[in-house]
Amino acid sequence: MSAVIIDGKAVAAAVRGEVGERVRSLTAAGVRPGLGVVLCGDDPGSATYVRNKGRVAEQLGVRFDLHTPADDSSTADLHALVEQLNRDEGIDGIIVQLPLPKQIDADVIVDAVRPDKDADGFHPFNFGRLAEGARPPVVAGTPAGCMELLRRYDVPLRGARAVVVGRSAIVGRPMALLLLNGDCTVTICHSRTVDLPAVCREADILVAAIGRPGMITADYVKPGACVIDVGITPVDGTVRGDVDRASVEPVAGWLTPVPGGVGPMTVAMLMYNTVALCAARRAGGVPASLR
Ligand code: GUN
Repeated sequence: MSAVIIDGKAVAAAVRGEVGERVRSLTAAGVRPGLGVVLCGDDPGSATYVRNKGRVAEQLGVRFDLHTPADDSSTADLHALVEQLNRDEGIDGIIVQLPLPKQIDADVIVDAVRPDKDADGFHPFNFGRLAEGARPPVVAGTPAGCMELLRRYDVPLRGARAVVVGRSAIVGRPMALLLLNGDCTVTICHSRTVDLPAVCREADILVAAIGRPGMITADYVKPGACVIDVGITPVDGTVRGDVDRASVEPVAGWLTPVPGGVGPMTVAMLMYNTVALCAARRAGGVPASLR
């Protein structure tokens, strides 16, 4: 047996196509969706991700309003900028690229974004709605993208055992909640988990969001499981996932490659969120859901 390779590039292109159509119909009705972006600091990964987001926004006809405050900005400076975007009628979604420089209190900035403009789904209101089991208006792009891949490849969720490795606020935790809301039985693992391979081997759906290239080998994988690799660690001019593809591919039932798996979905779902927020706030209703 060899895993079905989940083509994130193709699914992301399909999502972008659907989002682009909605942008065209909103724009024709006089409402052009706008995304406000705050990039502060010298993180090389962040600069690349933001450039990529700008390119996709342009392709889809979404206004991309980039702000690059000085690296030595204060929490108050960024707060004022977020408030300005909150008030801007032409801005439907706001993202503050993380990580922020260490002198800035990132929680204060994330919390300052209006929940109905929170294109990343990071605000405690939207995260809290997800935790309640309600469907929030927006879900963080990376876990939402993983769910979209599972849905489009008909990976069974109801009653499945799901294991998420990684407990970050922007991937691991929301991912676990989405799987729980999809009726999976969910375990969250982290650096203190005892006998991680044994826990992972129980998973029908295994999500690796650790940031350690190649850590998940065949020993961690139940035969036939769906393995979702969220890792994107830069190594020698390329990116490497958390999954050791050569050893896992013969064992798994499905596998997302790196690159070309989850990565392209993150940006596609960000654009989906921006357009959904635009439709909800300015055009009086949420568009037909992708989910
Ligand atoms: N840093 C890493 N991933 C993300 C993301 O999805 N959004 C933002 N704003 N920052 C990030």
